[in-house]
Amino acid sequence: MPTVLAVETSCDESAAAVVRDRDVLASAVASQVEEHARWGGVVPEIASRRHVEALPQLVERVMAESGLNYDDLDGIAATVAPGLVGALLVGSITGRTLARLHGLPFLGVHHLEGHLCSVQLGEPLPPGPYLVLLVSGGHTELVRVEGVGSYQRLGRSHDDAAGEAFDKVARLLGLGYPGGPAIQAAAAAGDSKRFPLPKGRVSRPEGGFHPYDFSFSGLKTAVLRLVQRLAQEPQELPVADIAASFERVVAEVLVERSCRCALDEGLDTVVLVGGVAANRRLRQTMEERCAALGLQWRVAPLAYCTDNAAMIGVAAAARLACGARSGCDLGVMARLPLEQAGSLYEMQSGCKSP
Ligand code: KG4
Ligand code: ZN
Repeated sequence: MPTVLAVETSCDESAAAVVRDRDVLASAVASQVEEHARWGGVVPEIASRRHVEALPQLVERVMAESGLNYDDLDGIAATVAPGLVGALLVGSITGRTLARLHGLPFLGVHHLEGHLCSVQLGEPLPPGPYLVLLVSGGHTELVRVEGVGSYQRLGRSHDDAAGEAFDKVARLLGLGYPGGPAIQAAAAAGDSKRFPLPKGRVSRPEGGFHPYDFSFSGLKTAVLRLVQRLAQEPQELPVADIAASFERVVAEVLVERSCRCALDEGLDTVVLVGGVAANRRLRQTMEERCAALGLQWRVAPLAYCTDNAAMIGVAAAARLACGARSGCDLGVMARLPLEQAGSLYEMQSGCKSP
């Protein structure tokens, strides 16, 4: 049962956690949302500066809360890809420095592998393989998971990520940043059937459509046109009904394609992770559809859907248990496909069980 101190600084949340295997001993997140909200999105320079300020205190806090000393740890982990390079560097340098100082192995973690592992912080998973729908601010992916490091991407968005669509539509509706929680709040009082909106599909060069891929840019444009048309009418803009209709279409499209993919692949469990997995309607739609189709489903605990360091710790603990560790000279990467997460490690021995 490896015990790991993990830090996460890939975007606009500074986070630190101490985990033992799948148990969170301490976890803290310092969100920068309010600062970025003024600009309508994340400003990379501000994010890096805030990470530098927040991270040392967060590390001290989780170490104190865990009641452990550095001697009790088996490794130190930091997110190293993908993300904002300046922001990733803060976590990576902090992690590598602490590992060096305390003579511990360093593990550079792929952010999406962290999201995949976040579900392990909740109810135990049925035995794999299973299908993961990973929906965050930067990614929308359907991933077949066989075990630690064995990931096959079966679907993806060809343009905006689901979370990005929430953020952009929230801006169009004059709601706050980040858009997901703002749309969810506005939608609660709305009529989700009032406006029919398109479920974007992606054409294949050979004809037909990609069955498991997504496109959200057409949906965003449809909302823009709707807002422009309704703005010319004397009544107030029906923000709640637009938000509810948008949220319904996103939830339906995500759930329909995930379930189809799971059934076609012969997988009986669908797992929901990432910031958008916090969405109430998405969870409810997934639950209903899976029940109707005889599929099992699991979702990451609410506290660990949006970015946090506990999920990075769980991913690192799983890798460490397989004999993996990263080089002290490992850099950071703005982009790295999930399938290449294993390239972040040395001394890797095979490991199959999730
Ligand atoms: O996973 P995450 O914290 O960061 C990335 O790795 O991108 O995801 C952030 C995204 C944002 O786009 C945010 O609007 C969305 O997750 N989000 C939500 C909700 N809470 C956060 N989207 C829909 N409903 C929510 N309740
Ligand atoms: Zn994330």
